[in-house]
Amino acid sequence: MQSFDSALFFCLYISSIMNVITLESTESTNRDAMELASQGAMHGTAVIAKEQSQGRGRLGKRWQSPQDKGLYCSIIVRPDVRAEDYPFLTFVAGLAVAEALEKEFSLKAGLKWPNDIFFGMRKCGGILTESSNLHEIAATNRFAVVGIGLNVNTALDDFDEEIAATATSLLIESGKEIDLKMVFDLIRNELLIQIELFENEGFLQVIRRWRKRDCLLGKRLSWVSVTGCKVFGVSLGPDDEGRLHVKDDNGIVHEILSGDIQLARN
Ligand code: BTN
Repeated sequence: MQSFDSALFFCLYISSIMNVITLESTESTNRDAMELASQGAMHGTAVIAKEQSQGRGRLGKRWQSPQDKGLYCSIIVRPDVRAEDYPFLTFVAGLAVAEALEKEFSLKAGLKWPNDIFFGMRKCGGILTESSNLHEIAATNRFAVVGIGLNVNTALDDFDEEIAATATSLLIESGKEIDLKMVFDLIRNELLIQIELFENEGFLQVIRRWRKRDCLLGKRLSWVSVTGCKVFGVSLGPDDEGRLHVKDDNGIVHEILSGDIQLARN
């Protein structure tokens, strides 16, 4: 009995190690994970890289990924939810990262819609969720890749000029160098826990907790509307479907589905 238990434990240990692929350098861990997932890689499998040459950000932007300064990882998930609920994963992931960081470092982590990780009004990380063709493939083959970029050991003068005024890192916030693998383990565990909660209890409990971390609420901001105009307004926060509500200067409330929200300077 004793030896069976330890053999089982050993197998679980090895399989949990094998589900994490660590690369010295890659173009984009999201690209790698999308490929692995389409070949059938299981829920929880992850790719981490020490640096990325073409880190992808949201809305076609680049994610700066200097060697050993940040966490660059992509986690394959296969949640047991309807295809139309997959877009909610982006909120689940933001919440998981914020909660994992807050538990470990006792730093109050905020969220900027839809899923940027903020400390104060500075961005520390971002999430890019990509998914399989959700409606055309069998439910058992569906997957999403949650790509997480987090500034961990980045000093202020490591940031490029264009983001230095608005970015931060765990090093800057906590004053300590932090082990990247430890941060990854925390985040992956928390993400898998939060996905299970989402499967069992639905999106409402996710968005309720998300709202408590909303760092845009009541703030004046701008965005580019579907008609291409820049609109200014005040954030009312996301509704129960995750759409951001913003009241513009004429009192009209807009529901924003996606896009780049900027804090207004005036
Ligand atoms: C954002 O625009 O804020 C999202 C950035 C997401 C970057 C991460 S880094 C790891 C993973 N691989 C990528 O190519 N992108 C994501």
